[in-house]
Amino acid sequence: MTIKKLFDVTGRVVAITGAASGIGFAYAEAMAANGARVHLIDLDAQALDHAVDALRRDGGEVHGEVADVTRPESLRRAFDSAIARHGRMDVVFVNAGISGGPGFLTGSGERNPAGAVENLSLDVWERVMATNATSVFNTLQIVVPQLKMQGGGRIIVTSSISASKTETLVSSIYATSKAAVGYMVRQYAHELAKFGILVNAIAPGPVITNIGGGRLRDDAARAPFERAAPMHRVCNPSDLHGAALFLASDASSLVTGQQIIVDGGATLGPAD
Ligand SMILES: NC(=O)c1ccc[n+]([C@@H]2O[C@H](COP(=O)([O-])OP(=O)(O)OC[C@H]3O[C@@H](n4cnc5c(N)ncnc54)[C@H](O)[C@@H]3O)[C@@H](O)[C@H]2O)c1
Repeated sequence: MTIKKLFDVTGRVVAITGAASGIGFAYAEAMAANGARVHLIDLDAQALDHAVDALRRDGGEVHGEVADVTRPESLRRAFDSAIARHGRMDVVFVNAGISGGPGFLTGSGERNPAGAVENLSLDVWERVMATNATSVFNTLQIVVPQLKMQGGGRIIVTSSISASKTETLVSSIYATSKAAVGYMVRQYAHELAKFGILVNAIAPGPVITNIGGGRLRDDAARAPFERAAPMHRVCNPSDLHGAALFLASDASSLVTGQQIIVDGGATLGPAD
């Protein structure tokens, strides 16, 4: 068995939500560079055009679909168009998501009133839950009938280390939305295993992307996260290429209901 064969995604039809930026774009890079036929789905039409152009310049077979993952009819149109183009769908990365704002502590360990539960707004709660959690339900409702009809497929959700631990520097609303995602991965993996549909998650620690206004690009904002991880660095989107290829390929053919944590050891606890 060669690595080339085991991790092969050549010709697979792949859709990625939130693909115009950050982690979703990194998944698209890994898929397109290895011969998959990739559909990028995103709310931001301009960023989507740039992302599609960049991947095509590198020789990828790539298409863009504008859609809002919180609006089932908009999302359905995007998937219908992707499925119509190739007559099938093999791998779905359910990735779009947003920040919920700051946590209850600042980077220097003081209380942050903006993150205190009594100061959080219901509007933010509803927006974050809709974008990060309900969107997973919306996407599965659309793609599962197609995957069942084909006899199987892969669903790969972007969860977070927040799915399985409490947070101080990250919004409690965000962590709650990702806990729901972690639960859905196990629940739907169980339900769909019989149909050959594998449901897994990639659960990154902090990743330098545009989320939350791109705050991790700032050295001072990134420092407490770097201190907290035993490897003393946060992720770059490209750190997720390997997990994406593993979960999209035959290398993971008996893996379901799992969350692959990519966090430089952050969930293990602090170290020197
Ligand atoms: N960056 C991190 O530290 C980190 C860590 C763990 C998990 N995540 C998760 O990774 C996923 C991707 O985030 P990212 O960090 O790459 O952020 P990002 O902001 O760089 O990219 C998110 C993309 O999703 C799109 N998007 C947002 N709302 C949408 C909607 N309603 N419909 C369609 N597209 C929408 C945005 O336009 C953007 O292109 C999210 O689910 C996020 O929660 C991020």
